[in-house]
Amino acid sequence: MSLTGSVFLDSGYQVCVKKTYLNHTFISGNKLSKLKYNILEAKNLKKTTLVTFGGAYSNHIAAVAVAGKENGFKTIGVIRGEELHSKINENPTLLFSQESGMQFKFITREEYRNKTTDCFLENLKKEFGDFYLIPEGGTNILAVKGCEEILEKEDEVYDYICCPVGTGGTISGIINASFAHQKILGFPALKGDFLQEEISKFTTKTNWELITDYHFGGYAKVNAELIDFINQFKKQNNIPLDPVYTGKMLFGIRDLISKGFFPKGSKILIIHTGGLQGIPGMNTVLKKKNLPLIQ
Ligand SMILES: Cc1ncc(COP(=O)(O)O)c(C=O)c1O
Repeated sequence: MSLTGSVFLDSGYQVCVKKTYLNHTFISGNKLSKLKYNILEAKNLKKTTLVTFGGAYSNHIAAVAVAGKENGFKTIGVIRGEELHSKINENPTLLFSQESGMQFKFITREEYRNKTTDCFLENLKKEFGDFYLIPEGGTNILAVKGCEEILEKEDEVYDYICCPVGTGGTISGIINASFAHQKILGFPALKGDFLQEEISKFTTKTNWELITDYHFGGYAKVNAELIDFINQFKKQNNIPLDPVYTGKMLFGIRDLISKGFFPKGSKILIIHTGGLQGIPGMNTVLKKKNLPLIQ
């Protein structure tokens, strides 16, 4: 069954969404692709524990917790923010991950910045024994290999492929798998221009561009206009969007269409990468800020 369906964006353009969030109940969207070959590698290496890193509402943390459980691994989540230690019950992502068997190690923001140093990793080994390390956001060469499978032969008909960007692994796979006539547009969820370099580590192709105007002030920053758009889009298209990645990307695509960015008649494919598990967590934040909630 094809996961791709057309959607209506209010300018009258017809575009299609590949709903990869329907591929697994919990390891949804790009997570299944990013973890596939890493899990296989961990099994090949006979590892029994997976260690990874993430923030308070990380989609990646939740996905690793479930992937570990389904594949018989012990999972350790190294979490940014010592203060979260006493707030697991208030955080839907952490609670879910814990219920899926993940054990946490909460560290300060400063320690988190040093999490890939030999010294930090050695200490983790002393604490948890030998493990297979999955980087923050899950991006490595094996994740990129998995994401090369997101595009299918039937997707050759599209001129533009749009994809949200965090650490750059997902778009790198999509670029590698793209057809020569296609242009890949990445919508970063974070500020900063380090991504250009990151993506270039995983691909030699040049048919891609980062659209950097739709991060809404930075990672996980939102405003009432974005939330309103997400709610409207779901009502019109019956497709839920997350507020960190896919919501911002779709908002950006609608804006670009209205500004005439895409030549008339272009066929546009949007990769919906999931992230829906983050909605309850974001709603707790929105409630505190007296902003509208995601429906
Ligand atoms: C829902 C969702 N979409 C997109 C991304 C961005 O993927 P990447 O980090 O591979 O750029 C992420 C983060 O992994 C994510 O959770």
